[in-house]
Amino acid sequence: MRFDIISVSPELLESPFNHSIVQRAKSKNLVEINVINLRDYSLNRYGKIDDYQYGGGAGMVLMPEPLYNCITDLQKVRDYDEVIYLTPDGDKYNQQTANKLSLSENLLIICGHYKGIDERIREMFVTKEISIGDYVLTGGEIAAAAVVDSIVRLIPDVLGDMESALTDSFQDQLLAPPVYTRPDDFKGHKVPEVLLSGHDENISKWRLEQSLKKTKERRPDLLDD
Ligand code: 6GU
Repeated sequence: MRFDIISVSPELLESPFNHSIVQRAKSKNLVEINVINLRDYSLNRYGKIDDYQYGGGAGMVLMPEPLYNCITDLQKVRDYDEVIYLTPDGDKYNQQTANKLSLSENLLIICGHYKGIDERIREMFVTKEISIGDYVLTGGEIAAAAVVDSIVRLIPDVLGDMESALTDSFQDQLLAPPVYTRPDDFKGHKVPEVLLSGHDENISKWRLEQSLKKTKERRPDLLDD
């Protein structure tokens, strides 16, 4: 699977994509991540890529032409399953969307900045608009790191059996149950007896009960769907 990511701050993406599981997936050649600096497509030698918005108001807007040139250049080389624009006014991201996107071959991701991108680029190219939650980030890069991470870990063979994605929170619309490791008594706080019993059926039952209880308390909306 390949990600092409258009950004005005590529350095923000260096650390998230060069450590841990994403890094491991890259070195196993299971994913390729290519970050494009939008400033390479600026129209003048000062690297200008944004301008004031028509109608007035605070905040700059990414101009259409650098984005147009960048996107059409990329589309000459490959077809994209989706052209994703990361923006606070997009559809709220969740595990189901991550699951669907993980079946893609090529994804193009545009990180917004300032007030966003010129609306005509959205009309001309964007097939999916994603927000990662109801709060505003300075730019789309941190959202891109979150979205890419959530997709990469679903690609077959990226996670080992011990890390399997199947038991994660949200994978079955339930929050994950509590987990414990050694010691079984930590400063008087004990691990629930059932987890030490070796009785697989009782352990599964306890975990499901705990998941349901936690989901009811914290995220009843998940149980409504
Ligand atoms: Cl995708 N971008 C920005 N700039 N802010 C956000 C977001 C995205 N999702 C939530 N807030």
